Amino acid sequence: MKYKRILLKLSGEALMGNKKFGIDNERLSQYAREIKQAVDGGVEVAVVIGGGNIFRGIQAEQGGMDRVQGDYMGMLATVINSMALQSALENIQVETRLQSAIKMEQICEPFIRRKAVRHLEKGRVVIFGAGTGNPYFTTDTAATLRAIEIEANVILKGTRVDGIYTADPEKDPAATKYESISFTEVYEKGLEVMDMTAFTLCKENNLPIIVFDMNKPGNLKKVLSGEAIGTLVEV
Ligand code: GTP
Repeated sequence: MKYKRILLKLSGEALMGNKKFGIDNERLSQYAREIKQAVDGGVEVAVVIGGGNIFRGIQAEQGGMDRVQGDYMGMLATVINSMALQSALENIQVETRLQSAIKMEQICEPFIRRKAVRHLEKGRVVIFGAGTGNPYFTTDTAATLRAIEIEANVILKGTRVDGIYTADPEKDPAATKYESISFTEVYEKGLEVMDMTAFTLCKENNLPIIVFDMNKPGNLKKVLSGEAIGTLVEV
């Protein structure tokens, strides 16, 4: 495998599958199987999952709710998804530990960096819930922050598109995919990879990003073994 320790960022929306809300069990199990393949291949896997299938902070604001309140609700939504993923992984005998940025000791461990690293070293999948624990930060930022803290080799952003394109492929049929691209080029071309906070954090800490299609079975393992799947963003 090309990478020893990874941080996998999954989107909450993707967990919905074809549903309009909540969690699609088939999709959830598929993600668990993908992760198991990575673990079986000897890769240390940490996961951050969004909460958009349950609640989005931005929507709350549009509805007249305080942004900060909405963001905290979104963080709780990520914990729900994290617990679902934890169960799905345990169902297929993958050892896991869930750590939350907001303490909820009846449900999971608090985030402790050194413990997280020990868990990874022991081959456990560590899921980080509740984002960064702070409002105004996205789960992409949480994923980046945790990836840097645990010294992951790469952040893998699993999405429903198979990489970064010259333009939005859903709007422009002439758009072509980059196999790799530099951080600077992404800035210059104004391409959307992650929000700016997350993206800058990656750039400043030299953390490569791979954007790839997580919904295609076998893709995660392919990325990890170095196949040119998706788009690699690096210095
Ligand atoms: P090592 O013994 O260091 O290998 O790690 P471990 O995670 O097995 O040890 P620990 O005794 O810390 O944890 C045993 C179980 O309790 C694991 O499933 C942990 O996720 C869980 N656990 C540990 N701390 C907490 C906590 O604060 N809250 C909750 N809900 N569970 C916890």
